[in-house]
Amino acid sequence: MLDEVAEHTKIFNYSIRYFSFTINTNREIIKMLLKNKKIVIFGLANKYSIAAGIAKSMHKQGAELAFAYQNERLLKNLKPIADECGSDLLIECDVSDDNSIEKAFKSLTSKWKTFDGLVHSIGFAPADQLEGNFVDVTNREGFKIAHDISSYSFTALAKAAKPYLNDNSALLTLTYLGSLQTMPNYNVMGLAKASLEANTRFLAASMGRDNIRVNAISAGPIKTLAASGVKNFRKMLIQHSNRAPLGRTVTTEEVGNAATFLCSDYASGITGEITYVDAGFNISAMPLHELDE
Ligand SMILES: NC(=O)c1ccc[n+]([C@@H]2O[C@H](COP(=O)([O-])OP(=O)(O)OC[C@H]3O[C@@H](n4cnc5c(N)ncnc54)[C@H](O)[C@@H]3O)[C@@H](O)[C@H]2O)c1
Repeated sequence: MLDEVAEHTKIFNYSIRYFSFTINTNREIIKMLLKNKKIVIFGLANKYSIAAGIAKSMHKQGAELAFAYQNERLLKNLKPIADECGSDLLIECDVSDDNSIEKAFKSLTSKWKTFDGLVHSIGFAPADQLEGNFVDVTNREGFKIAHDISSYSFTALAKAAKPYLNDNSALLTLTYLGSLQTMPNYNVMGLAKASLEANTRFLAASMGRDNIRVNAISAGPIKTLAASGVKNFRKMLIQHSNRAPLGRTVTTEEVGNAATFLCSDYASGITGEITYVDAGFNISAMPLHELDE
């Protein structure tokens, strides 16, 4: 009898030890999803940028980060966030200019021989395109600029990054539901986002055999510099909270955490996908309480 109790105690102790080992191991993995990954982030304009939420999450999960900023003017906003993320690798890059892209990659790869990921968090359309009736306000120049900066630049950066990307690398861009459904004032940006999503799929197909994954996050509306260019954006935020199943908008941190996952090896089977981080807004045609008396 005493032998039996001793045997059970031994088994119990082993189980406890195994159980806590598993928890600690998982905790370690969960803490460091991007350990040993070098990732360059394009599009951090200030602390409200989606790219800032992405940088903070990626840094927390162990990534080594570099940042590319559009012009000198934005450097003072970027610097404190880069410091917070332990990065002093800051490179100027205007994605509308091929020479600027070439120079930026020369500068980046003089510090990093190779790297593991690139975040494209860039979008732009001239202000006059983002206010008023689509058919009346859209013009050739606005169409060209919106598609060049908001979609083609993702291809351009992928092309420039390709020779330096390690096995199991990941590229990520940011899109919006305006690619699939109409909404007031988003206008030509909706068309540019549709192009960007197709771009994501074509890049995924084109780079898959090199073991490079390409994905997009479709984020819900968040008050940022770019978003404030869309007329009546504040009203969009209210509409969003009313219709989204979670009854709210999302934060840049929530988008950042999804970005971290998609750029990590935990997402190794996912490519060419548009992942919604929008509190469920895109699946809801009408809020549940809409027909209540
Ligand atoms: N805020 C939202 O509601 C929302 C929702 C879904 C998707 N997005 C997308 O997220 C991305 C990031 O936008 P954000 O909302 O964080 O705004 P943001 O203004 O903080 O970021 C936009 C960035 O694009 C950069 N950019 C514009 N033209 C450029 C150029 N020629 N060269 C280099 N960089 C250039 C700006 O410098 C800025 O850093 C955009 O693609 C945007 O369309 C935003």
